[in-house]
Amino acid sequence: MPKPRLIVAPSLPDSVFRGLAERFESQGGDVNLTVDEAIAATIERQAEALLVSHRHKMTADQIAKLPGSLKILATVTVGYDHIDVKAARSRGLIVTNTPDVLTDCTADMALLLILAASRRAKEAEQLMRQGWRKNFGMGEFLGRQVSHKRLGIFGMGRIGQAVAARARGFGMEILYCNRRPLAAELEAGARYFSDFRAMLPHCDILSLHAPATPETDKIINDETLALLPKGAVLVNTARGQLVDENALINALQSGQLFAAGLDVFRQEPDFDKRFIELPNVFLTPHIGSATLETRNAMGFRALDNIEAVCAGKPAIDPV
Ligand code: 8YV
Repeated sequence: MPKPRLIVAPSLPDSVFRGLAERFESQGGDVNLTVDEAIAATIERQAEALLVSHRHKMTADQIAKLPGSLKILATVTVGYDHIDVKAARSRGLIVTNTPDVLTDCTADMALLLILAASRRAKEAEQLMRQGWRKNFGMGEFLGRQVSHKRLGIFGMGRIGQAVAARARGFGMEILYCNRRPLAAELEAGARYFSDFRAMLPHCDILSLHAPATPETDKIINDETLALLPKGAVLVNTARGQLVDENALINALQSGQLFAAGLDVFRQEPDFDKRFIELPNVFLTPHIGSATLETRNAMGFRALDNIEAVCAGKPAIDPV
């Protein structure tokens, strides 16, 4: 049996890259290809599979350029807002993602941001690197306590639930807003709100875990930020599209928010540099899933999906 022809648009972790040759006739995986380069290679090689990441915007126009040989458009991400799934399906393409394997790492990252933003980790670390040398009075350098606070979770899917599980270890009260309430055993005492706005006045900390869709675009805006208690903390490890960044910057400057922890931005990597000037925002460059273990698992999961579909079997993770 000839091996399936695969084009890999993102550079992959070493061990995933090294495993490619055994299973595929592949091109890429060692460098980051642009969408145009990846599509050109897919046409040239008459590939059966194309692997992309969230940086590769697969619009209807781009999808229309893909060759008839292509069977599967796989993304090595859990989010698939960068793919026009309807356009792909109407071309008969199977689209797959990589759920589950990055749940724990992304939830860990949300906790890191909750703690870092609330406890002023950025300012503290910066001060140490400047040499410290001045004792603080009892009332100086105060952050906000995390333990026993009320945590609002917007989007109670796998990652939201994993954040709730961790937050319970901090004795936090969990509130959540989701399209549907969870079953009681999954809810584990968390309080459900069908209305996002109704939940906000009860959140000391708000963590975002919903996908980017037209409904969630800029759901964090002037109006919703004003509904949070003054001095709340906002954390985003989901997608920058959920946030109106002008409104967020205003809320951080006015003190409506005590702090924010952000791993994702509306524009990546060219994020809004006004965030750099704000002492009360802890910033990371979209690294929620970036551990060796998780990135390997994501890569292998994407390859498993591709191998299955190219062998005429059902996809493991169809979207
Ligand atoms: C990144 C993610 O895409 O899976 C997702 O949806 O946002 C992340 O895992 C990952 O960093 C790959 O670039």
